[in-house]
Amino acid sequence: MHLIPAHQGRPSDDPIFSLHREATQRSARGEAIVNATIGALLDDDGKLAIMPSTARAVHEVPAVDWASYAPIAGTPEFLRAVVDDLLSGEPALRECAVSIATPGGSGALRLAINNFLEPGQAILTTSWYWAPYHTLSEESERRLETFDMFGPSGEFDVASLDAAVGRQLAAQGRALVILNDPAHNPTGFSLSDDEWRAVVDCLAARAGENEGKGDGKGELTLLVDCAYFLYGGARDPRAFLAHLRPLLGTVQLLFAWTASKTFTQYGLRVGALIACVPDPKERTMVESALSYSCRGTWSNCNHGGLVAVTRMLVDPALARACTAERAALTSQLRARVAAFNGLARSRGLRYPRYEGGFFVTVFNDDAMAKAAAMRVKGVFVVPQVQKKTGLGALRVALCAVAERDIARLVDALA
Ligand SMILES: Cc1ncc(COP(=O)(O)O)c(C=O)c1O
Repeated sequence: MHLIPAHQGRPSDDPIFSLHREATQRSARGEAIVNATIGALLDDDGKLAIMPSTARAVHEVPAVDWASYAPIAGTPEFLRAVVDDLLSGEPALRECAVSIATPGGSGALRLAINNFLEPGQAILTTSWYWAPYHTLSEESERRLETFDMFGPSGEFDVASLDAAVGRQLAAQGRALVILNDPAHNPTGFSLSDDEWRAVVDCLAARAGENEGKGDGKGELTLLVDCAYFLYGGARDPRAFLAHLRPLLGTVQLLFAWTASKTFTQYGLRVGALIACVPDPKERTMVESALSYSCRGTWSNCNHGGLVAVTRMLVDPALARACTAERAALTSQLRARVAAFNGLARSRGLRYPRYEGGFFVTVFNDDAMAKAAAMRVKGVFVVPQVQKKTGLGALRVALCAVAERDIARLVDALA
């Protein structure tokens, strides 16, 4: 066996994709299947929802832009456009922001993990999390640790975050906290304004020089993975950014941005890591380090994709069309969320505050058996069990379920 021992026995298939495959095969054989496994927005006929203007923009990219290399960090126009897209309402953050093109939000996460933690150290995220956070950490010789996401009344557990950050800073001298918000995968939860304020107070108090005194202070980085930010509830999707202002200069702020969900172009593999660095010298250093990492992993991104997404962001008519088409998708998704909320509470399902987003997570103490029993009935959800606590849950991808099937889905869950 020539494969290095640490990589022997690694699973080849993502369990979500295997469940999806089974659901699709049974459906092709004529069974009435509800497939709530896959993390892409489908229309009510089960077809991938694609914003027509984004598909057109992709086709209009000249051949030379597909064929030629992009600059390693991404084209300057793209880098400016993503910063403006996320931060134009927050001048203090925008003025000191640098960005780097990545293959989707996944690439942005990889760059953050490699550049803001030492090998062997652990990222810190919520106890319910998107499984690839773990894969990305392992693949980069880092680890993953969690804090309890919810307190006893279903609130975001800031005390647990605070204790975990303190522990990590004492042990590692630095911490990289990853929060997927708004519209968290897999729970659908979005932090309220009060919860964001409490998170920011906690991080501000923890940030500081690590002087080896074990006082729970140290180099602190916050990465907000905003993959689903345009698909949350009715609130302004960028409202959370205002809460982050006090962290500028003390906590390293990072954002993982992706065109996968924003423009329903998952296969285009376009994303960005945005870093807010007030000190100009440090900013240049961060920019160079990120660019170096790009060169050392994927070299450079899909040039045609960067050109297409830049146009979606900056061409006024195209950007307006994209916004209108996305609004139609979000209203379809919100109708599903409302239908789910309308039925699920009265059937006794336990799940977090849920106002929008691709997914919701229903707590279940026997998640594996429950998901298997649902599969027999033709209803597919993704079971998950927390290693640390043994808590179980079922991830339900409402993004993939037609409104007319939600009653059957809730029935199976109940
Ligand atoms: C929480 C979360 N972050 C990031 C991503 C990144 O996706 P992509 O690499 O396609 O941009 C996803 C995709 O499913 C996700 O669920």
